[in-house]
Amino acid sequence: MSFERSKELFERANTMVAGGVSSQIRRAESPVPLFFERGKGSKLWDVDGNEYIDYVMGMGPNLFGHAPDFILDAVTRDIQNGFCFAGQFEQELTVTELILKAIPLDGLVRYASSGTEINQLVLRLARAFTGRNKWVKFEGHYHGWTDTVLYSVHPPLDQAGPDDNPTPVGESAGMAPGAADDIIIAQWNDLDALQSIFDAHGDEIACVIMEPIMGNTNCIVPRPGYLQGALDICERNGALLVFDEVITGFRVALGGAQELSGVVPHLATYGKSVAGGFPLSVLAGRSDIMAMVGDGTVQHGGSFNSNVMVISAAQASLEQISADPEAFYSDLNGRGLQLMDGLRDAARRAGTDMLVQGVGSTFWTTFTDREEINDYREHAKYVDDEKYTRFAAEMLEHGVRLATNARWHMSSAHTDEDVEKSVAATYESLKLIS
Ligand SMILES: Cc1ncc(COP(=O)(O)O)c(C=O)c1O
Repeated sequence: MSFERSKELFERANTMVAGGVSSQIRRAESPVPLFFERGKGSKLWDVDGNEYIDYVMGMGPNLFGHAPDFILDAVTRDIQNGFCFAGQFEQELTVTELILKAIPLDGLVRYASSGTEINQLVLRLARAFTGRNKWVKFEGHYHGWTDTVLYSVHPPLDQAGPDDNPTPVGESAGMAPGAADDIIIAQWNDLDALQSIFDAHGDEIACVIMEPIMGNTNCIVPRPGYLQGALDICERNGALLVFDEVITGFRVALGGAQELSGVVPHLATYGKSVAGGFPLSVLAGRSDIMAMVGDGTVQHGGSFNSNVMVISAAQASLEQISADPEAFYSDLNGRGLQLMDGLRDAARRAGTDMLVQGVGSTFWTTFTDREEINDYREHAKYVDDEKYTRFAAEMLEHGVRLATNARWHMSSAHTDEDVEKSVAATYESLKLIS
């Protein structure tokens, strides 16, 4: 397989675009960050004419695959009347009704364009509502790239401090000094650890923010009772529980992780899948909390918030799913589970220790001899990331494109044939890298 044209374009890109890419994670693609010509359904075609079954799916947003006709048709139709009003339009209310009907959290919403952005509003609102400054963040969770939250996502263990009292590790140069003073880092999925933090700082903590399924490290699911326990601790201490459902929302179920767990937080954020590949993010929150955004006590703005393209795409997406949510998610998750089983079998046959962990619609493949990975530190200690990079590069050669961070995203466009081919490619690739 040749990647010559992508290599040429990447060299050219490097002379104009910092690092040749517009989001750092893309730079890790091996043998070269690819340039694409076209995507449709489960497939991508690059500029060298290579065809891939794609599991990157825009890092999650393309819930229906690339360029689904029904979203293309809706957006093309609706933008004839304007793109961006900096004003309200009725379709926004239609979408809001669909969202509020879909998610268990009952309240009000605000819109923005990215997950990073909407999580800034969450922090500001939680602080304003509680009059407190500190917040609890978990190692291995990601809430965006800004100064307030880019701590201890994947910290080197020699800087991360003790297991029971982790040190906040900033993940970029140039971050505002002082942001770390307000962050308490904890291990996720450990109620005792959370309780100890509240025992020590209960009246200083504005909120606990978590991915309710840990999509950014090994796709770890919460232990039974953990989410409810975390909610109870927050409520006993006057703190807010926030679910960052940017990955899980509209992907793992129509009502996201809240629907799966039955636990409803005070605030929740959404992004990625909510508009089928278009950049829309959402904060949903209890009405009395959101009132502070409503009356402007907590400031929030944005030129592109709730523009015609994204609202149109969201309406098309949500109506498509809502027609028969049960069928949609049992198909999406079912095919994902089938693929996960196939990958496990391929690894067994190839004699490789590859852990396939997660839920059907999204999961991780990592190289470890552990039967499961339960938290970030286990991941850091026992997972061979370098082997995954070789695996992903080999899968590309076999016509399957995987994310650089080991997270797979199913779409409703993936077929049984895609699953079969991907399992075959996995077996071949594992034999070559072992
Ligand atoms: C759980 C979670 N929250 C927030 C974000 C940030 O979203 P965005 O990339 O749209 O800024 C991401 C991105 O991957 C994410 O996975």
